[in-house]
Amino acid sequence: MPDRVLARLTLAERASLTSGQSLWLTQAIDRAGVPSITLSDGPHGVRRQPAGGDHLGVEHSLPATCFPPAVALGSSWDADLVRRVGEALGREARAMDVQVLLGPGVNIKRSPLCGRNFEYFSEDPHLSGVLGAALVSGVQSQGVGACVKHFAANNQETDRLRISAEIDERTLHEIYLPAFHHVVTTARPWLVMSAYNRLNGVYASEHPWLLTELLREQWGFRGVVVSDWGAVDDRVAALRAGLDLEMPSSGGGTDASLVAAVESGRLDPEVLDAAAGRVLDLVERATRHAAEPAPTGWDAGGHHRLAREAAAQCAVLLKNDGVLPLRPADRVAIVGEFARTPRYQGAGSSHIVPTRLDDLLTEVRALAGREPAFAPGYRPAETGRCPELEEEAVRVAGGAEVTVVCLGLPAADESEGYDRTHLELPANQLALLERVAATGTRVVVVLSNGGVVRLAGWDHLAAAVLEGWLLGQAGGGALADLLYGVANPCGRLAETIPLRLEDTPSYLTFPGELGAVRYGEGVFVGYRHHDAVGGQVGYPFGHGLSYTRFGYADLELDQQGTEEDLVVRVSARITNLGERTGREVVQVYVGAPSTQVRRPERELRAFGKVELAPGESAVVRFTLTARDFSFYHPLRRRWTLEPGTAVVHVGASSRDLRLSGEVTLTAEPPRVVLTPESPLADWAAVPGGLEVLRREMRPPAETGQPHSRFLSDSGLRMAGSVPLRRLARFPGAYLDPDKLERLAAEVNALLSR
Ligand code: BGC
Repeated sequence: MPDRVLARLTLAERASLTSGQSLWLTQAIDRAGVPSITLSDGPHGVRRQPAGGDHLGVEHSLPATCFPPAVALGSSWDADLVRRVGEALGREARAMDVQVLLGPGVNIKRSPLCGRNFEYFSEDPHLSGVLGAALVSGVQSQGVGACVKHFAANNQETDRLRISAEIDERTLHEIYLPAFHHVVTTARPWLVMSAYNRLNGVYASEHPWLLTELLREQWGFRGVVVSDWGAVDDRVAALRAGLDLEMPSSGGGTDASLVAAVESGRLDPEVLDAAAGRVLDLVERATRHAAEPAPTGWDAGGHHRLAREAAAQCAVLLKNDGVLPLRPADRVAIVGEFARTPRYQGAGSSHIVPTRLDDLLTEVRALAGREPAFAPGYRPAETGRCPELEEEAVRVAGGAEVTVVCLGLPAADESEGYDRTHLELPANQLALLERVAATGTRVVVVLSNGGVVRLAGWDHLAAAVLEGWLLGQAGGGALADLLYGVANPCGRLAETIPLRLEDTPSYLTFPGELGAVRYGEGVFVGYRHHDAVGGQVGYPFGHGLSYTRFGYADLELDQQGTEEDLVVRVSARITNLGERTGREVVQVYVGAPSTQVRRPERELRAFGKVELAPGESAVVRFTLTARDFSFYHPLRRRWTLEPGTAVVHVGASSRDLRLSGEVTLTAEPPRVVLTPESPLADWAAVPGGLEVLRREMRPPAETGQPHSRFLSDSGLRMAGSVPLRRLARFPGAYLDPDKLERLAAEVNALLSR
């Protein structure tokens, strides 16, 4: 049908299809029977704005379930759970007449300071990709399109509409693109959203390599590329580069520029038709699905229960000396305004109006069956200390065996649109913590924050720390479940908690200067950096405690095939050694060799979550392929496997590796092709190469020297980096410049023998 429709449209109508009709609607063309479809944020709830809702009024939307934001879902390390959340999001979108949900966001947490980290899953591309794909599959299983965003390299908010992310090719392919690649190739999202920023000088929305060569031609993406809201700078350039749909409406202005460009011959009409055709395909697909019978409304209670179940699997127990879980008989006090007024999501376009909101205080009351002593302790929006509130908190804590102290970041500290400048909790909250701890009560800290906060300096005051991130509307109930052992903590850190901001790899370059941000740390992002420099961290990537313990045994590595066909099957037996049912996140890290580039010590390549009853054990299995041992070779411009010994670790965190085994990789070493430009050392390194040079570089007989002094051991060391073409000009080289091409062919032939 799209082709037939397209044929009946005027040039102006075709152009109009490739931009929005309003903030959230695509352009309808009534005359041709083309309806509008509705796009809504995303990602952790449906932000359906009532007709006329303005973009900046993000807080005005229809009530919807506020599921745990990505920062929390990332810590679940549970693709099945994320898929179920996606299904629920899809059901709500259907019921609210939304055809496309704008999410998930799979950008990498390059710096813990990014103001929007709460909307992203992880510092690791594999984890981000697997969870992003799970969310897309869940949403789309309900006949609603998902839109993976923000493509690509949108890793900060500072100057986000103009900044140029300066990233070398290897780093792009190994860190910033794999999550998108995985989502696009395995879950097939209906849309991809291009980012606001520039990538190496070119706007992502106008980037032909990114949007066409890579996304469509190499990855096979068939859907619609939509701009982030207001990301288009030059509409003609964007369309040419592969952007199909500009959002929101530009009031017709940029449509007219497309028409003018076609009429003046600057824009090939087929390029416009291809984009308009893809938008028509999307509209057709969305309306076909929307017409299928679907339940009207959704089970708000059921979704709230799912939000609670999910939240309980996202919180990360960072430390515990045994104080947790609490027993109903414990004399417990609760301190901190966040227990009564929860922080459960971040600010900006992902803001959801929840259907209900649980708070920890009410939920503890319900669970423990009595009224816990409570004092707010601080005012979240204020940084100054409040002596009366502190006194009251000290009094309350002084009478309790255990005090749960709820701390976290004030809402204004983290939002879309700006970055943080430090990792500290507010000084008034830390002062409160010190005073509470000084009463002698045992302290359990519960944290609410979307971006990482620094714990070094105060965590010694706490007997236990539960990192609650932002847990969505049912977070209060989930936290109560975890504190009282109704649920067993099973979240794991999806990002490193550093000891200091200064230890983070992007410290010196984030958020850039003079319009550009140089990703100077390269592939060494997050744990890849900390492990490479052997640095201490607060809590490592992958870490998280449980109320039970797990044993790891019987690692087996079964290797088949070589090179591109390599498959390594990994299995290990995990046993619940404790007294409670619990879930373990089994993590597989690979450290692979390279003579060509500096590689991380080890990288997460697979993971799985397994639930075990006390005493129960299970064999968990993973499959690794050649890609998991490869690196992206920037000169060959492809993934490259090098021969040598790789190590496969199976463990409970990036720093808690329980089992390790070796895999012998066989592959052709990456071929060096010699040219006259190649340095002397490369020529000499080829078996037989030195002999060829010795034959050619002969001084006249009267010198008595067998060959040029540059070919002696010291000569080779000193002049090894000189390209042969330039060496030939030196006195004493005795090399005929006209013979170089022929010599290169001769030595290259030796190489391929
Ligand atoms: C955000 C996107 C969002 C869009 C629509 C932009 O400001 O970057 O993530 O989907 O607005 O609200």
